[in-house]
Amino acid sequence: MRKQRILTGITTTGTPHLGNYVGAIRPSVAASRDRTLESYFFLADYHALIKCQDPEQVRQSSKEIAATWLALGLDTDNAVFYRQSDIPELPELTWILSCSTAKGLMNRAHAYKAAVQANEAAGEDADFGITMGLFSYPVLMAADMLMFNAERIPVGRDQIQHVEMARDIAQRFNHNFAELFTLPEAVVEDDVAVLNGLDGRKMSKSYNNTIALFQTEKQLRKSINRIKTNLLEPGEPKDPDSSTVFQIWAAFASVDEIARMRKAFAEGIAWGEAKKQLFELINAELAEAREQYARLMNDPGYIENVLQQGAQRAREHSSSLLAKVRMAVGIDAIG
Ligand code: TRP
Repeated sequence: MRKQRILTGITTTGTPHLGNYVGAIRPSVAASRDRTLESYFFLADYHALIKCQDPEQVRQSSKEIAATWLALGLDTDNAVFYRQSDIPELPELTWILSCSTAKGLMNRAHAYKAAVQANEAAGEDADFGITMGLFSYPVLMAADMLMFNAERIPVGRDQIQHVEMARDIAQRFNHNFAELFTLPEAVVEDDVAVLNGLDGRKMSKSYNNTIALFQTEKQLRKSINRIKTNLLEPGEPKDPDSSTVFQIWAAFASVDEIARMRKAFAEGIAWGEAKKQLFELINAELAEAREQYARLMNDPGYIENVLQQGAQRAREHSSSLLAKVRMAVGIDAIG
């Protein structure tokens, strides 16, 4: 039986935090080691340009995200690990798909609609500050998936619509030209936690409430101490289910450890003690990878080399698929 093909990308605009780790990076590392899967993981740096016009930030983030994936043990023999911008077939496919994608479909994209609504609420022109990149974002993302005939796309809830749009785009192409594309399916793992941040809202760069994944031990301890709690004293029972400390604990702990902490909350564990244990738990999971991360950040040539090898493998697939796509739309040698 052919292996299931999974694919996902991370936009290179920020420094990975615990929420990214639990929600996306840790599951992808596990998938990369699973020999029953064929996996494609990439740095979505063309997507980064849509949100970020600071070249240094895009550069730094690409390096950090690549080093993070590798430090955590991404299996690059099994998985194909590459940088989106190293695959010239992707922007080419994006254009070809754009030419058969309905503008009306793009009008319905959540990210674009939210930008228009924000403009209207602010009394601005509807298109104020909206680039063609933002508008066409789902077509680029469709090209990412369709190029590799990916079947399963692990994503957060906010990205489900984009996978559905990719299906629409693929179906239209398959119908109009040739059956070249596999219809991708979003996979939102229920057991993958969406972590809360320091202030109790979803951990997100845009809320400025994140805990960086790889910071020094001392900084990590400090960050964890900043997680918002209530004023209950030691000895007073505490509610685990409304506590960010407990929520993060549950994303790192075993079933037994979760039960033990739940009991400790009921018995009134002090916030300071719960945070200390949380720090120790997270630190134990990350300590080794943190050292490897530091080594990789000091050896960018190694990272680049790994990415180049990944690009070569990815292009074996993308160049042959694109050749068929070009042929199907009538772009080929005269003869
Ligand atoms: N847009 C996705 C995000 O911001 C990243 C991404 C780009 C992606 N291309 C993809 C995810 C293809 C899955 C498949 O999270």
